Amino acid sequence: MKFDTIIANGTVVHAEKTEKADVGIVGEKIAAVGKGLAKKAGGGGNGGNGNANGARIIDAKGCYVIPGGIDVHVHLALPFCGTVSSDDYNTGTRAAARGGVTTVIDFAIPYGEESLQQAVDNWMAKARGKACVDYTFHVAVTKWRRHRDEMAAIVKQGLPTFKQFMIYEKEGWQADDAAIFGALEKCRELDAMLLIHAESSRVLDELIERHHNEDEMKQYGAVLHGMTRPNFIEAEAIQRAVKWAEVTKGRLYIVHMSTADGADIIRDAHRRGMDNVFAETCAQYLVLDDSAFEGPDGHLFACCPQIKKKSDQKRLWKGIKSGDVCAISTDTCTFTREQKAMWQGDWTKIPMGMPGLETLLPIVYTHGVLKDRMSVSAFVDKCCTTPARIMGLGDRKGAIKKGYDADIAVIHPKKKIKVDHAQMETNADWSPYQGWNLAGFSRTTLSRGKVVVDDYKFCGTNGWGKFLKRETAGNI
Ligand code: URP
Ligand code: ZN
Ligand code: ZN
Repeated sequence: MKFDTIIANGTVVHAEKTEKADVGIVGEKIAAVGKGLAKKAGGGGNGGNGNANGARIIDAKGCYVIPGGIDVHVHLALPFCGTVSSDDYNTGTRAAARGGVTTVIDFAIPYGEESLQQAVDNWMAKARGKACVDYTFHVAVTKWRRHRDEMAAIVKQGLPTFKQFMIYEKEGWQADDAAIFGALEKCRELDAMLLIHAESSRVLDELIERHHNEDEMKQYGAVLHGMTRPNFIEAEAIQRAVKWAEVTKGRLYIVHMSTADGADIIRDAHRRGMDNVFAETCAQYLVLDDSAFEGPDGHLFACCPQIKKKSDQKRLWKGIKSGDVCAISTDTCTFTREQKAMWQGDWTKIPMGMPGLETLLPIVYTHGVLKDRMSVSAFVDKCCTTPARIMGLGDRKGAIKKGYDADIAVIHPKKKIKVDHAQMETNADWSPYQGWNLAGFSRTTLSRGKVVVDDYKFCGTNGWGKFLKRETAGNI
């Protein structure tokens, strides 16, 4: 067989096993995975990049060859908190590629009286001509009574995942229990899935109000962000959403779960046989804790829900191991120092969110695989294979298999790179991981057969990324 590209001599990582094999690519697809493809084509046997029978040989000797990461939770160019998140489809997807992530799922959110269709059109326009890797959207149902009858048409366009926020009343995004209950019923009817940002808004508002005064803001600064969001704020909300999923039988996916308490609730739901409930966590909740709010840059680390305690990290890693936590994403929502400075000492005014796409795989690889918390196959499972499958991309993305899109990252098992925002593709002028030494950066990234990162440097093109239609979600 004649290949366009062969990734030779590497260890191919699947969610279930690893194998020494070459990967042969024709056009945008993986055409073969097997031993000696490069040798048979007349090259690549001894290491070194080159050409064989017209095929470009990418030597992966000593490296892992993994499916491109699937970040199912990003916000690019999101109007939010009085500003717009500063990684757009240009810098955001460049950052993704450099981090070995080849698919991003953003959230199309209607503003004001906009319809779901307008939100989708707006997000399509943000991505068109800019995206360097493939993308699709979850669609936010912010006005239940207006949007419920639009959901079927959105599913028909290949967008079977919806999102509701239990907080963010001021943004006009908040969904009440009736909306969540109704949306879960609707998702069941449409073979779709509902993603929920689970935080208990009324008690949260009460706690914020109690501490929202000059004296405490002077005394505690950004630490108040953590003080006003104890774990029960997330736990109560997850518990309630799980109850609505239980009675409606709708598919529920808890986004950015940050607490040990949340992981316990999901575990209990699974033990009761609820296979319609899923939960992701994000890389930051696995490695950062709320002591970050204490420094002069503490406000930079504010996101919703906030980073929690070391004990929560530990429980989330355990949930990953048990399978109760099925995916690791980033909730990338980048704000620059200048944007974060809008807080002026009042934590309720901090633009909430952090950069993350470029460091997702390195963080999870370094703190998961290299710290013996997970195998390299489990790493691929949680960052690539399972997220793809749950989000309805499991027929083309998230695995190195014949017929799948040739979305691949080649990572060195040990080589560490010091994180420095100034050297990165993200538009952030800071990093939550500044100065950390991380392995797992992509040496070579391919997006549908095209090399978009070579020797750790981005070399892709704007507009290469394609919109991905999906048929269903959550039924794994
Ligand atoms: O702080 C965050 N997470 N910003 C993005 C919006 C959200 O809640 O996901
Ligand atoms: Zn959220
Ligand atoms: Zn988010």
